[in-house]
Amino acid sequence: MKIEQLLSQRAQLVDSELPGLLVDIKPPELAAAVNYAIASKGKRIRPALVTLACEAVGGKAEDACFAAASIELIHSSSLVLDDVIDKSEKRRGRSTIHALWGNDMALLTVQILAALSLKIAARDPRLIHAIADSLFYMGEGEAMELVDFAKDTKGYLDLAFRKTGSLFSSAAEVGAVVGGGDETQVKNLMEFGNHIGIAFQIRDDILDCISKEEDIGKPVKKDLFMGRPSIVLLDAINSGISIERMMKCNNGELMHLVSDSIGYAQDVARKEFELAKGQIENLDESPAKRKLKELGEYIINRSK
Ligand code: IPE
Ligand code: IPE
Ligand code: MG
Ligand code: MG
Repeated sequence: MKIEQLLSQRAQLVDSELPGLLVDIKPPELAAAVNYAIASKGKRIRPALVTLACEAVGGKAEDACFAAASIELIHSSSLVLDDVIDKSEKRRGRSTIHALWGNDMALLTVQILAALSLKIAARDPRLIHAIADSLFYMGEGEAMELVDFAKDTKGYLDLAFRKTGSLFSSAAEVGAVVGGGDETQVKNLMEFGNHIGIAFQIRDDILDCISKEEDIGKPVKKDLFMGRPSIVLLDAINSGISIERMMKCNNGELMHLVSDSIGYAQDVARKEFELAKGQIENLDESPAKRKLKELGEYIINRSK
């Protein structure tokens, strides 16, 4: 099965968990915004990670659907919040929540999505800790970006862990816990998630420089124009290319100007993927373990 097929198959498992949640949200404006957020679907990479981690320790994917849905709702809530902070008007090819309902209603949508996630996670209280951890780290990561531009790769990797690696780590954790993994297996899968999550964020930084909005469904060159730490921009600046010069480029010119830094970022993403694979070396060979590696390969080469 190709990875895209796997993603859509696992997405269906998550979808089966969601409709029951939406019955009673008041007022109707908030219900509409929450419904809109849930109806607009992304790549569903984290649910795939949850269910594969579950299977990799001997569990059944079906048993992890609620955990996958809970993680995807946290992800959705973090995107609605991120779009407010980044003043982004497009997400998944559609207008963002704050663009349609305003910042106040968007922040309340964030709260409701997080509450729905916790409601689902509470079916197995062991999951609450994992979710709290990533909510905490993601909050720190978003705040760090606002006050500082990472100075070096080490600083950047710490930021990428908080922003993105932490939720991938929690996704792998809840999957492994529900699947009945032992303490070492859970830890290994968490580290796997952490590293592929960092690789995911690096690829996101690359896509911000090389893509078109219509292909990735969200604005491009955001990192450059919002002054957000991106590993590509960080390396470009450290090699003497000024932000002003980058800002004068059109898309094609920017890609050309920072091509060495894009290559560097891709190397770092590949290294993170190698570290991830090293973490699951000791798990028994299984189709799920192979798929986890394919998922990592997809993450560092994806074009959206
Ligand atoms: C976007 O995540 C946010 C980052 C962590 C870079 P995704 O690219 O997984 O978003 P969707 O769910 O597919 O829209
Ligand atoms: C994504 O941040 C990380 C989150 C915690 C949501 P970005 O701002 O880098 O991601 P995009 O490019 O808007 O998806
Ligand atoms: Mg953003
Ligand atoms: Mg952001």
